[in-house]
Formats: sequence, C-alpha cells, structure tokens
Amino acid sequence: YTITVNPAGRGAALGPQQYGVFFEDINYAADGGLYAELLRNRSFEFLPVDNRAFTGLTGWTPVAGDGGAGNASTVDDDARLNERNRTYLKLSANSPAGGWTGVTNAGFDTGVPLKAGAAYDFSVFARTDAVAGTPLEVVLHDAAGNPLAAPLRRTVQGDGWAAYGGTLTPSATSDVGRLTVRAFGTGTVRLDMVSLFPRDTFKGRRNGLRKDLAQKVADLHPGFVRFPGGCLVNTGSMYGYDAAANYPRARAFQWKDTVGPVESRATNANFWGYNQSYGLGYYEYFQFAEDIGAMALPVVPALVTGCGQNRATGDEALLRRHIQDTLDLIEFANGPVTSTWGGLRADMGHPKPFGLTHVAVGNEENLPNEYFANFLRFRAAIAQRYPEIVVVSNSGPDDAGGTFDDLWAKNKAAGVQMVDEHYYNNPAWFLQNNRRYDAYDRNGPKVFLGEYASRDAKWFNSLAEGAYMTGLERNADVVRMASYAPLFANIDNTQWRPDLIWFDNDESWGTTSYQMQKLFMNNVGDRVLPSTFTGPPGSTDPKPITGGIGLSTWGTASTYDDVKVTGTDGTVLFSDDFNGGNADRWTPVEPRGTWSVVNGAYAQSDAVAEDTLVKAGNITATDYDLTLKATK
Ligand code: AHR
Repeated sequence: YTITVNPAGRGAALGPQQYGVFFEDINYAADGGLYAELLRNRSFEFLPVDNRAFTGLTGWTPVAGDGGAGNASTVDDDARLNERNRTYLKLSANSPAGGWTGVTNAGFDTGVPLKAGAAYDFSVFARTDAVAGTPLEVVLHDAAGNPLAAPLRRTVQGDGWAAYGGTLTPSATSDVGRLTVRAFGTGTVRLDMVSLFPRDTFKGRRNGLRKDLAQKVADLHPGFVRFPGGCLVNTGSMYGYDAAANYPRARAFQWKDTVGPVESRATNANFWGYNQSYGLGYYEYFQFAEDIGAMALPVVPALVTGCGQNRATGDEALLRRHIQDTLDLIEFANGPVTSTWGGLRADMGHPKPFGLTHVAVGNEENLPNEYFANFLRFRAAIAQRYPEIVVVSNSGPDDAGGTFDDLWAKNKAAGVQMVDEHYYNNPAWFLQNNRRYDAYDRNGPKVFLGEYASRDAKWFNSLAEGAYMTGLERNADVVRMASYAPLFANIDNTQWRPDLIWFDNDESWGTTSYQMQKLFMNNVGDRVLPSTFTGPPGSTDPKPITGGIGLSTWGTASTYDDVKVTGTDGTVLFSDDFNGGNADRWTPVEPRGTWSVVNGAYAQSDAVAEDTLVKAGNITATDYDLTLKATK
C-alpha cells in the first residue's frame, strides 16, 4: 500500500467547531448522570400520570425509629412550594416520646456515592405546624443502616416554607449510601426539594455537574456542545394528555421550564420514558459549554414531531409562542442585563453574555413540508431581530439513504446556511461511504453532522468511525461540524446503544469510540493535505448472494446447525450454529455487512418475519461477515 501526500497541496481548511459533542438526556444522562444531584425524585414530582410505575414517593421509603410513629405521603394542595413545584412530602409525625418518623432516599443506581472526607451540601425546604418547631436530623448511612457521617441537625420553625441546609462529611466511602431525614416530635411537617450535592462539582459550580463525567467531555476538547436533544426536543406538549401513552405528560423541551431557581423549575416526563428534574437546564448547558471552551448549540422544538411521531401542530398561537420563546432564548444568552431574559441570566450568576451564534430548529421531523414551513417562520423571525445568528435546519430522520432528498432540496433552494444530518449505520456503511461528501454541492448549505455512530456489537465500530472521519475532514469545506451520538449512557438504564461514555453512580469509562473521538478532537489539523492511495482493493466490493437466506435455507428442525450462505464464488458468507429454538422471527442484530435491498423490503434493525427477511436475489452483501440471530 502506498499513500502519497502532497505537502504543497491545499485541501479543505478545518474549523474550530469541526468536532463537538451532542448531549441529550437519553440513557439517564442528566439526573443520576451529568447533573451532580445525588437524590432521586428530590421534589416528589414523580407521578403516576407520567408513568404508571411512579408514585410521589418513588426513590423514597418511609421509615420510623426509636419508638416513633407517623405517616409519610405526597400531596399537591394549596400548601405547595410553588406553582411549578406542586407536590411535596407531608410527614404526620406522632412521636411524643422521643422517637422519629421520616423518609430514606436511595439515590440513583445502587445508592448515593459518598467519599470519605469529602463535603456534601444538604438542603431542603420545610415548614411545620408544631408550635415549638420540628427538630430534623439528616443522616447518611449505608444500605445496611450503618452510619457514614455525623448527623446534621436543624429545627424547622414556622408554617411557611423556608430553606434549611448544612454540610455532611462522610467518614467512610460507599457506593450504596442512603440519606434519611428524621422528624422528631408531633405535628405536620412538610418537606420539598430535599437535595444533596457533592461540594466537588466540575469547576466547583453550585447546582453543578458530576466531575468525572464533565471532565471526560472536557478531555475531548469539543468545539461545540449540541443540546438538549434529539428526539427529546420535539415530542410532546402540543398534544395534551394522552391516557394511552405510558408517559403522557411528556412535553417538548421548553427552555423556559429549565431556568431560574431550581425549586421553581418545572419537571418533565421525557420522551425516553423517565422524569427530568431540569436541574440541568439551559443556564447550566451554556455554562458548561463556556467552561470547556465550546460553542453552545441549542436545538429548539419545531412543533413538528419526529422520532416515529408524525404530527404537526396546526395551532398558530402555539407556533408563535415557540418562535417568541426562541427569540427570548437568544436574549437570555446574549441580551444585556437590562433586558428581561438577559436580566435573568445575570440573576443566575452570568451577567456577561454567553455569545450564542447558532440555533438549530427541530430534530428529525418526519413531515418535511410541515417542518420546513415552520422552519422558515423561525428563521424569518430570528433573521429580523438577530441577523447574525445562524439558524440550522435539518434533513429529516435518517439521511443515510437519501430518503429526505426533497427536504435537502428545499434547504438548498431557500439558501439555508447549515443543515443537520443524522445517521446510524453498520461499520461497512461507514467504510463504503467515505466519499459521501466529495459530491456535495460546494455552494449549497454547509453540513452539520449532528448525530452519527457505527452500530454493531463488535469493537471495530470505532475504526469504521475513524476511517469515516477522514472523509469528513477531507470535506471540511462542506462538513463544518460533526458530533457522535449519543454521548452518555447509564449502564443500568439504557435506551440506546452504542454510546460514547458509560457510567454508574460512581464510575465512568469511555468506549473505543470515545478514544477515537478524542484522538481526532485533540489533533484537529489546520488544513487537509491532498493524498492518493494505491494498493489492492479491500474486501468491500459487492458480492451477490445466490440461494439467499430464508426459511428453507435454515431447515425446519428446532436446532439449526451449521447454517451457511454462500456467495456466487462459493465463499461462505454466513455460517452459524443456533442452539435450538423454534424461531418464528429472525432478527438481524449484527448486520456487519452492508445489505442493500434490490427488490424487496428489508428492515435492518427491526425484527422482521422470516419470509420477508431476505430472499434469493433480494440483497447484495458487501463483505463476508454477515451475522443473523434467531429470537423466539
Ligand atoms: O441519539 C439518539 C437519537 O437518535 C436521537 O434522540 C435522535 O435524534 C436520533 O434518532
């Protein structure tokens, strides 16, 4: 093999935002992840209306001790903390003889992770109707009840909400910690926003980020941070309560829900099936981007859903409200402290503007016409007031196959500055499509590759991604930004894989794809030097399959042994031993070759009926490494 580089040649120049990260609250990436809060359901807003498995006490267990008695329940009534934080904990304490009643929080995953000698900031809003006040004791202990720190004692006074807090310092390290709040005496004591933060957050920020996770992102030196989604952005809100859905209260991610004092922020049941506290909100996103020297790139809902939900709102007033919200967002980021939203930013601790330059409208909308009509409305309003802002459009759900060419054409015709493309494919696709952008119009919109990943169960995903990134760099005059997705995954709560960084409650680790991203991001060149390659062709040339793969190939016995599919040249393309099972469906879980449908239907990652999976002549395989898996 020979690679010839022309050092005097002038290829594309790489930009400061060439590579970045995409943070979405998927895989429990925020609460119990990047957001450093250690208590789950701190504001008692987990409700059955969001998810039938939830109760106001999800994450909490009522407890009593030393002969104490009482009752713990969650209530939404006129005594609530505020209109957006409605449900609170009501402890009816009945311990006249010195005992206590209370609640224990089990944190996320195996428990609250605690480090010996480190400081933890506890805070709570409380009120009591006990005339002499209610003594509270805050105790850190392990799952077996062994104390881990000296208790914190405070006395709640008066029947109006007030904040109480203090520091707890564990004497031992544990990843199965628990926090118990004990109320002594008799009377009704109400608690809300029960919170525990490590003092040691990323950059020491209050309401900050978990240090190891934020540091792993910082170590990439990303040029931008796209947030907050993804499918998370668009879905929800405009359709109201849907009793049939499992998480009917899920609303589109609306930035105004996520700013201001944390106790006044809304919570949300999100698209991925769990609750968000919004403690990690727009201020924190902007702050994080600034802290790691990255450009903030927010995505606002386009009022057309994607991600399998093909709906567009016809509600003009709602659309106008979202357009206004987007203008207000720009004011929040960049406006003077004398403006309404710039003033809020200053109140939150950042008088200096964040310097927002780009806003993306929407994510993977399935209805191109409706999406684009809305996009143009957003763009026109932003251009009128903030002509300097780049408004990023997108190219539909999965652009790998050119399904949404029409939307691309619209973007081009409308002179859109930048289009967000997404695709997830197998490694062979990434190898074979290295030249994808060579043919892109140099005068058309620039590309923001906002989501991509090689999806395969094997380790060579990252190699395929790295090879593909050389194609992105070669075309850096067109592909101005690229981010792998998703960024984070909680090992016990995963909706999507593969992911870049994995974590549990106290540890985190990067995948090989993380290392690949780090390699590229930490070594962004200035300019591509043209090069040529000579050598024998690889094994990626299409090889038609004859005989095909179908039921008759597998046989009818309940044990499938030595299944083989051969190419025309007699090479074994596929062979496997399925140990038993009357498989009535075949799921191609590891489509490590590229499968292109010639004249039949084929869904790469969905389970498909065996007789529609693959038939003779319907596919070509482009390498010799196909794997199918039978499932019942
Ligand atoms: O990255 C995971 C999901 O993939 C995103 O939410 C969505 O935009 C895409 O379909």
